[in-house]
Amino acid sequence: MLPGRATAKRKGIRAKDVKDLLPLMLLMVIIFLLLLFWENELNEDVVAMTIEHLHVDYPQSDVPVRYCNHMILERVIKEPNNTCKKEHVFIHERPRNINSVCNSRRKVACQNHSTTLCFQSENKFKMTVCKLTEGTRYPACSYHISPIEGFIVVTCDGMGPVKIQRYVE
Ligand SMILES: *[C@@H]1O[C@H](CO)[C@@H](O)[C@H](O)[C@H]1NC(C)=O
Ligand SMILES: *[C@@H]1O[C@H](CO)[C@@H](O)[C@H](O)[C@H]1NC(C)=O
Repeated sequence: MLPGRATAKRKGIRAKDVKDLLPLMLLMVIIFLLLLFWENELNEDVVAMTIEHLHVDYPQSDVPVRYCNHMILERVIKEPNNTCKKEHVFIHERPRNINSVCNSRRKVACQNHSTTLCFQSENKFKMTVCKLTEGTRYPACSYHISPIEGFIVVTCDGMGPVKIQRYVE
């Protein structure tokens, strides 16, 4: 009989302990959910800054007039200090083909006097170059449109292109 009573008593204590812990557990669940949410927010920021978001418009959006002005606003293209970007290029090519530039055999200097190597596309891509004509503070920026065909030069990491360095006509 004695051992039985002892377990019953212990069970009672356990149940009480759990009740005391409940607010703490709830708090932990809330913190966990907040962290999860926060992480998702961060991920969205990262996705928003990808090359695809910044530079790829395929197939080219049907913007009858002022293509650059429209796209610069739609994609929120600006300098980190909220000034107008001087030049921006939109590439009208499948994201898959842009990703594969990282497998290109053409390795070139990223900039004129730099020693780091970038990858140049093996094919020319259709692009639109937007050059700032008026404005300093985003979103009051006005752009000139030049449709071109050119090679792109990109920096890559293990996942694919990270940055469009320049284009070569
Ligand atoms: C904003 O940033 C751009 C590019 O980094 C720079 O050229 C420009 O001078 C900066 N403008 C101001 C007002 O800080
Ligand atoms: C690199 O050099 C070429 C030709 O000399 C010039 O047209 C181009 O503007 C230069 N590019 C940069 C990023 O300085």
